[in-house]
Amino acid sequence: MPANMILFKKATDITNYLSKIRESGSSIGFVPTMGALHQGHISLISISKKVNVVTVCSIFVNPTQFNDAKDFSNYPSTIEKDIDALEQAGCDVLFLPSVSEIYPNGTQNSHIYNLGYLETVLEGKYRPGHFQGVCMVVHRLLSIIPASELYLGQKDYQQCMVIKRLIEIEHIDTVINICPTLREQSGLALSSRNMRLSDADKVQALKIIEALTYIKNKIKPGALIELKQTAIHNLTNAGFKVDYVEIADADNLEIIDSWDGKRKLVCLAAAFLGEVRLIDNLVL
Ligand code: PAJ
Repeated sequence: MPANMILFKKATDITNYLSKIRESGSSIGFVPTMGALHQGHISLISISKKVNVVTVCSIFVNPTQFNDAKDFSNYPSTIEKDIDALEQAGCDVLFLPSVSEIYPNGTQNSHIYNLGYLETVLEGKYRPGHFQGVCMVVHRLLSIIPASELYLGQKDYQQCMVIKRLIEIEHIDTVINICPTLREQSGLALSSRNMRLSDADKVQALKIIEALTYIKNKIKPGALIELKQTAIHNLTNAGFKVDYVEIADADNLEIIDSWDGKRKLVCLAAAFLGEVRLIDNLVL
């Protein structure tokens, strides 16, 4: 029998409850999510449970990080199933706030986070304002939840780097843990947005990880532009509208067009399959 999970909807209630736990010296692991949970999310809960006394999950579809209104209104919601899955996984606490609980002064950003270069490339370039919204919500969540450890998925590679920077610039007393991307046996990265794909779409969606694997297998020191272009071409031919396929420095996301054979690289892609925007990455 899974232990009972405590559900909080009010920020002050969860803060009161968790502050006592953290003050007593017990570690709190925190997994922020937007719900429509899948095994990728659950893997973060399991990793947290191994090392923390209390594991907290939040479910909040954050309006300020959606640059596309349609994407926001189409974002899947499966709250009853999510609660079941979290209880099964042994999650101790669920925070399920309303928009007014997270943004009592409204959703307009009153503070600009200095993300520098990170906000100008890849997801930052194609989703203007997205990372400011991510910072807004994660900053607020970490002010409500006194987490010792934060668990994030490598699936959102750039988001991990942005949140790392947020924690540095805001001097937040929480340690970041970046966890591996969980995939279906086929190789497809698990994503809440996959719920909007048909079975045929899911087969087609595999072309993204195929394009990244192609780059991983073919890469050699020297010029990389042709390799990227071939990958973009292959995806476009397979019916995708490609935002980018890029090779970047794994530590700072500097775009690499010519490789010295030494720098650690990551290959990242974002593409639309119909109306669904998919992202994935592979550390090379
Ligand atoms: P969401 O997309 O729900 O993802 C929540 C967490 O699960 C993120 O850290 C994400 O990287 C991780 N995740 C997603 N798919 C995964 C997979 N296949 N394997 C492992 N981990 C995976 O990311 C967000 O929500 C939001 O931007 C959030 C950080 C909650 C702020 O609103």
